[in-house]
Amino acid sequence: MQIDSGFTFVLFGGTGDLSMRKILPALYEAHRGGMLSEQGRIVAVARHAADLNGYLDWMNTNVKAHVSKNGFDEAVWKRFIERIDYVKLDLGKSEDFVKLRDALEGHAGIRVFYLATGPSLFVPICRALAAVGLNLNSRIVLEKPLGYDLRSSNAINDAVGEIFAEEQIYRIDHYLGKEPVQNLLALRFGNALFEPLWRREWVESIQITIAEELGVEGRGDFYDNTGALRDMVQNHLLQLLSIVAMEPPHSMDSDSVRDEKLRVLRALKPIDSRDISKVAVRGQYHGGVIRGSSVPAYATEPGVKPQSTTETFVALKAEIENWRWSGVPFFLRTGKRLADRIAEIVVNFRPVPHSALGAPALRPGSNRLVIRLQPNEWIRLYCLAKQPGEGMNLASVHLDLAFDQFFKEGQMEAYQRLLLDVINGRLALFVRRDEQEAAWRWVEPILNEWATSTKPPKPYAAGTWGPAAASAMLAQHGTCWLEEEN
Ligand code: BG6
Repeated sequence: MQIDSGFTFVLFGGTGDLSMRKILPALYEAHRGGMLSEQGRIVAVARHAADLNGYLDWMNTNVKAHVSKNGFDEAVWKRFIERIDYVKLDLGKSEDFVKLRDALEGHAGIRVFYLATGPSLFVPICRALAAVGLNLNSRIVLEKPLGYDLRSSNAINDAVGEIFAEEQIYRIDHYLGKEPVQNLLALRFGNALFEPLWRREWVESIQITIAEELGVEGRGDFYDNTGALRDMVQNHLLQLLSIVAMEPPHSMDSDSVRDEKLRVLRALKPIDSRDISKVAVRGQYHGGVIRGSSVPAYATEPGVKPQSTTETFVALKAEIENWRWSGVPFFLRTGKRLADRIAEIVVNFRPVPHSALGAPALRPGSNRLVIRLQPNEWIRLYCLAKQPGEGMNLASVHLDLAFDQFFKEGQMEAYQRLLLDVINGRLALFVRRDEQEAAWRWVEPILNEWATSTKPPKPYAAGTWGPAAASAMLAQHGTCWLEEEN
């Protein structure tokens, strides 16, 4: 659906990795699908290319490869690159921003400034834009990581907030743009079936896992100063948790949804520094084997300090202090170089209070909802059924909802959805400042403890599911990670 009425999309970091892999391919897909208005322009801003021809050469060499998977079309590509302008800009030179302003003059519609740059450049870029009056009639998109902790994130938000109003600021968390995450909202709030059971009386525990097979992929330097807690938990995992646990919003408008997510984040039980070893496990991968190939230890990756204590794995127990969720553990887990690439949410329901059908009906996890977010999207509702034949023997069966069998249309990629939302002024899938602060506030005691701890992260072999301590944490609650069943 094309609803914007002209826009100028200004891409800072125009030759960066994110622009190459995600942003430009997503814009191409939106163009190919007829979702961008004819008047929409894309202005790439970078230092490397000398001029527009140089930039288009760079695009032809580097970006095409990332758009081909859904059917690359040369004619469509040619029309797409007609939308592109290029401004060579040195961030340190104020006259270059005058040049940018001049280049934008006469373009119709809203201006979107996408900062696909490191966070240290957010404030200087915003200030330079304001100095030439480009903060008016515009939106600004900030990529994660937004800061390093609550203080640095506040410093960025304060400075950006002096220049742009909150309604102009789009903080991206690409997990919110994923189709299955949208589907979670549809499942919860479009059906009467689940909502009555979605609470402490019926739910025993919830697991949220984002597991990756990939390692640090040439980002060793960045990652070693970041770690899994900042890279994945503070943002993606806590956003997923807030969507799983939020109250039904009054409407899907941006503030109704974000208000409810914020309530969850603020209700997270603060973690006492003395309890961290009981509710948090940090790990770091050693060498191992993934899909038959040897992979090196984290500490030997380029850019990583040999004695690094940065975590590549985190497992946490979170609790939400409200009537709906009191006492229900939420187990969160993420890691690099794990046994599989999987993102999923597992809702374990309580067993029946009394079983006339023997022990299986009393077994934890016999009723369970598994929401698979990636690599493919499905929802499975596990329950017990009678095994055919004599006697009453129960066996686990599942109702299966595989979305690719129901819907012919391919999924829209997260960045495409989010970029269209920015262009069209829809804020619901972007993180509001107060949500971000609440998330930082919750993870900070763990960050602080790990920063000063003399205990190194627990080792795990690449290609496994992380340190044994992550399983032990669940065992204390009489449960286990989904893949450990049977
Ligand atoms: C990014 C992290 O935000 O998310 C990366 O910085 C991680 O380290 C990536 O690999 C995972 O995203 P996805 O969509 O591939 O699950």
